Amino acid sequence: EAIEKGGYEHFMLKEINEQPRSIADCMRGRLDAQAGRLIVGGLRDYINKFQNADRIIIIACGTSWHAGLVAEYLFEEFARIPVEVEYASEFRYRNPVINEGDFVIAISQSGETADTLAAIELAKSKGATIFGVCNVVGSSIARATHAGSYTHAGPEIGVASTKAFTAQISVLTMMALMLGYQRGTLAESKYMQLLNELEAIPAKVEKALESNAQIEYIASQYKDARNFLYLGRGYNFPVALEGALKLKEISYIHAEGYPAAEMKHGPIALIDEEMPVVFIATKDSSYEKIVSNIQEVKARKGKIIAVVTEGDTSVKSMADHVIEIPATHEALVPLLSVIPLQLLSYHIAVMRGCNVDQPRNLAKSVTVE
Ligand code: G6P
Repeated sequence: EAIEKGGYEHFMLKEINEQPRSIADCMRGRLDAQAGRLIVGGLRDYINKFQNADRIIIIACGTSWHAGLVAEYLFEEFARIPVEVEYASEFRYRNPVINEGDFVIAISQSGETADTLAAIELAKSKGATIFGVCNVVGSSIARATHAGSYTHAGPEIGVASTKAFTAQISVLTMMALMLGYQRGTLAESKYMQLLNELEAIPAKVEKALESNAQIEYIASQYKDARNFLYLGRGYNFPVALEGALKLKEISYIHAEGYPAAEMKHGPIALIDEEMPVVFIATKDSSYEKIVSNIQEVKARKGKIIAVVTEGDTSVKSMADHVIEIPATHEALVPLLSVIPLQLLSYHIAVMRGCNVDQPRNLAKSVTVE
């Protein structure tokens, strides 16, 4: 087992650190920015259905559902097709409206999640086209779908998903760009710019990982907190949910993720000097808005940990701690902003003596209802 961990203390830490490579593996053979080429091979036979879909329905559970939320922003922004993101467990029991013109994307690391599998069967029986985004080759979901693309992240052993999440987002981003370009809703110049930015992501993830020692220090300051709040807007809203889920799963600290603007409708009541608030406040179209959310938390003496874009000064002057990540196009930020959150939850869990790779009550794949 020590050999399998490749010198790391835990699989989770190994898998977090593998991300520059796993994301590159996911894009290999699909993306060539210089040649202006992007091909998600699995879509080949279904590209017409995809392009002409009335609606995209995404079904998933857990972390994969968070990747689905990121995809909602991507598909709507670039391809202008309406998207619904559904918890597989709710979808399957709700008598949902599904039509033949719906293109369903099922996302699953293991490809074995019972709820997701049942939701696929339901959508299939109503005539929808189902596309799988799975990590495990030959898994049940990969076999049950009409077509699909593998994430190629390699085996993920840690129960808390890390590299599978960024690989899922990578595939979904490539699908959204390809779709937008082919539908003519994404202009060629912007498409080219995004291909270049996407190709630069693995190196930027490597850079984001360099904050590890600083994040370990921050973890030591907050490891005894009883609650955490994670806030983000736009593309960073699903990342806030994912950051909170990671902390809950492995450190057993209660954490909530929220869209930052929703804070005023409830969570703001929780804020006092005991409450660490993690803001994902990268330089993007909602930057000014999130800066004012940070001010609101500061005025109530909350402790502020902020993930910011390299070189940021405004947030730095307000936050108790800032963690920098490289700049990229705002649609690609989740691939970078989730990295410090994975590391933060990891270090807090280790310091609390938790079983990081096999947290209590959780299973890597949930094959029962
Ligand atoms: C379990 C795992 C989570 C995972 C979820 C969905 O709850 O503990 O890490 O996100 O299942 O799994 P899937 O394999 O379908 O992505």
